[in-house]
Amino acid sequence: MTLKNHPFKVFSYVIVIFLLCHSEALFKLKNIKCTCYEKSYCEFKRCELKVLGRGLVGLFVHAQANQVPINSVTCHLTLFKRFNGYKPFLFNMTVDVCYFFKNKKRYPFFDIVYDGIKNFSNVNHTCPFNHDIIVERMVLNDKMIAKVPVPSGFYRLNFYVRADGAWRGELEVYAEVNLGYDR
Ligand SMILES: *[C@@H]1O[C@H](CO)[C@@H](O)[C@H](O)[C@H]1NC(C)=O
Ligand SMILES: *[C@@H]1O[C@H](CO)[C@@H](O)[C@H](O)[C@H]1NC(C)=O
Ligand SMILES: *[C@@H]1O[C@H](CO)[C@@H](O)[C@H](O)[C@H]1NC(C)=O
Repeated sequence: MTLKNHPFKVFSYVIVIFLLCHSEALFKLKNIKCTCYEKSYCEFKRCELKVLGRGLVGLFVHAQANQVPINSVTCHLTLFKRFNGYKPFLFNMTVDVCYFFKNKKRYPFFDIVYDGIKNFSNVNHTCPFNHDIIVERMVLNDKMIAKVPVPSGFYRLNFYVRADGAWRGELEVYAEVNLGYDR
């Protein structure tokens, strides 16, 4: 770091602290891709981001379940951060979703992710699932940055879903975290 850069860095940190106290859109959803491996098991009726208001992007997913009830669900979550291409970052974990609903403390990190989804979805109950999985108007909550203090950048979160003994599909969510360096 050169001396010339130094004051700018300090200045940036001040901005970051300021933004954390008076935060607006630190998180921004950028893109989403949904894939079901076999139509006989599931189909995506909806998989999109929509602008809900100024700077506010909502996530909409409707996965139609073609074989119910779903008795076991395992979710594999991997976070990537864009450096020179996307590289694994911070966590890569496997969660037994049915077990999670019985004992949330078992997966503290997944609980943070779930916390961001639960108000906007119909998955808030224990297994089995005998209905479509729907997420509507989900927005990223800036309070999440306090729980997961990640640096500014572009991220990709991959969800791989295994249900009733086979891998069924995957979701890729792209998001930007902007702590205000370049505003
Ligand atoms: C994440 O962990 C799984 C094993 O649980 C492994 O198969 C996979 O390659 C890992 N992915 C990355 C990107 O490290
Ligand atoms: C979910 O709803 C509860 C109660 O309405 C609220 O306190 C909480 O902040 C909401 N969480 C998110 C992530 O929006
Ligand atoms: C579902 O949501 C309600 C209200 O937000 C909460 O009281 C309940 O514990 C949740 N159930 C599960 C299984 O998470």
